[in-house]
Amino acid sequence: MLERLELKDLTVRYGRNILLKNLCGSFSRRQINLVVGRAGSGKSTLLRVLAGFHKEYEGSVLADGQVFEPSGNISLAFQNPEALFFNGTVAEEVGYALKMRKMSAREIEPIARQWLQKWGLDPDRCWLNHPLELSGGEKRRLALAACTVFLPPVVLLDEPLAGLDAQGQRDLISLLSGMATDHIVIVVTHEPELLLEQSGSLLYLHADGCKSLKPAEFLRLALADSSFFPLPEWYRYAVRHFAQSSDLPNLRADDVYRFVKTRERMHADQL
Ligand SMILES: Nc1ncnc2c1ncn2[C@@H]1O[C@H](COP(=O)(O)OP(=O)(O)OP(=O)(O)O)[C@@H](O)[C@H]1O
Ligand SMILES: [Mg+2]
Repeated sequence: MLERLELKDLTVRYGRNILLKNLCGSFSRRQINLVVGRAGSGKSTLLRVLAGFHKEYEGSVLADGQVFEPSGNISLAFQNPEALFFNGTVAEEVGYALKMRKMSAREIEPIARQWLQKWGLDPDRCWLNHPLELSGGEKRRLALAACTVFLPPVVLLDEPLAGLDAQGQRDLISLLSGMATDHIVIVVTHEPELLLEQSGSLLYLHADGCKSLKPAEFLRLALADSSFFPLPEWYRYAVRHFAQSSDLPNLRADDVYRFVKTRERMHADQL
């Protein structure tokens, strides 16, 4: 099982424009690895480099010390992956990657059913449904299940939480944490506050320099200076006591959710 991906002096370009310069950092198993940065900072491009789709780079990506070979070892879920459904049933959608690997229908079905179950979808209920008949959160989980059913050692997710409601986000966060046991999970997000608790490393991309940070360091920098990273107001408020602390606040996603709901109720009562 793969333990660690390492970026060694990665410089990424589009033609003559350098987008990421001398990037160093690492991603490990048993934690969620975050990639954050403003729009246009190069997050999706970095995922495409790791997936082997973008080749204009110097430096190297090492997997447990060896040059990383992305082909067959990686799954990249683009933003809104459910927009790319192209099969007529949930069964075909989730089984597609296995079919491409020349498995027979009889071999595929039990694996695909079990994998759906793992992603919180009841195969008996949705097996023959059209993927677009599922709810928003279910569609997202199906899309990510379909991307990962062949058990790639490295899973890259571009904005997996975007557009989900709070419950959908919490369900997905716990699934992603579970996946990190067996896979190196790398998540690009504009909402790092939702995942800091589960993350162990954070790569911050910025035109003036990229940094590999511990989540607590990132949080302290963002709390001290909102131009470093604009955390949402409610989150800044919830964790303000921790601005000087070297530890992450003991705020679980559930607690933050309850905190926000209470504030919303207080706000509604005042109106
Ligand atoms: N195919 C391309 N050719 C040239 N430049 C590109 C190409 N794709 C992206 N870029 C440029 O690279 C920069 C980074 O793009 P990228 O999509 O990696 O950013 P991002 O951090 O994912 O942004 P967002 O948060 O908006 O998704 C942008 O300035 C973009 O214009
Ligand atoms: Mg992007």
